[in-house]
Amino acid sequence: MNAYTFDGKIAIVTGAASGIGYAISEQLLKNGATVLGADVNEEKLTQLKEELGDSFIGVKTDVTKSADQEALVKQAVEQFGQIDFAFNVAGANKSGTITDISEEDWRFTTDLILHGVFLGMKHQAAQMKKQNQGAIVNISSLNAHVPMYGGAAYASAKSAVEMLTKNGALELARYNIRVNAILPGLVETPLTTNFTEDKSLNEAFMERIPMQRAATPTEIAKPSIFLVSEDASYINGTSLVVDGAWEVSGYPDLSKF
Ligand SMILES: NC(=O)c1ccc[n+]([C@@H]2O[C@H](COP(=O)([O-])OP(=O)(O)OC[C@H]3O[C@@H](n4cnc5c(N)ncnc54)[C@H](O)[C@@H]3O)[C@@H](O)[C@H]2O)c1
Repeated sequence: MNAYTFDGKIAIVTGAASGIGYAISEQLLKNGATVLGADVNEEKLTQLKEELGDSFIGVKTDVTKSADQEALVKQAVEQFGQIDFAFNVAGANKSGTITDISEEDWRFTTDLILHGVFLGMKHQAAQMKKQNQGAIVNISSLNAHVPMYGGAAYASAKSAVEMLTKNGALELARYNIRVNAILPGLVETPLTTNFTEDKSLNEAFMERIPMQRAATPTEIAKPSIFLVSEDASYINGTSLVVDGAWEVSGYPDLSKF
């Protein structure tokens, strides 16, 4: 049984070719929505079209490019007349301690994580304002609240995404647009393969995660789509931590690895 009736709803999902973005696309499609899945990985998007069907439209998009984000919204409006939901999910991390990280890696990470979400919201919300309705979900991270050794660029940018979300809610509530953030803990995706497949590193994480396991991408996707549904009609500007109780125990000491 489907949890929601999203028939006729049009959603944009960035980072749709893998992990959490893929799982959000899958859940939206299951509940009747049409999904414009945006990703830099064009080859994967083409494969997904076969797997996910005609209601999934892959759109090659680099979220760090304003012109790409604008074109994505334009395509949604030209093809379907509106955007009901937007999920800003695309992300990656180049790590390094504050003294060692190159400026290039710092800029890569903060550009993708923070600027990419800002550009998404900028263009998505401009359209939603015209419609006087919409819901946006930004995928931040537990690292918005808890620092990670060697992850200053990523954690700082994720923290900024949380505040960008609150600011979005403040500015856009008057246009009937809700903006919320999901803060996932450890999720089994290609992004975290090095964490989950290294035995001792994985053990260090499990010492801190009371539920003793990583989340599946679907366990992040389901609360994400709840936030755009009518069941969440009064939830706005909030951060939903989905972490198996990890935040209550803190981050492992990654300087040992
Ligand atoms: N996996 C975790 O444990 C975890 C935890 C907290 C937060 N997150 C966040 O969730 C989001 C999704 O991560 P994931 O684990 O699914 O990773 P993933 O690597 O499985 O998927 C990320 C997707 O983003 C795409 N992408 C990268 N750069 C892009 C760009 N410039 N433009 C468009 N697409 C781009 C990639 O091609 C990929 O398909 C990220 O923002 C990540 O920081 C992940």
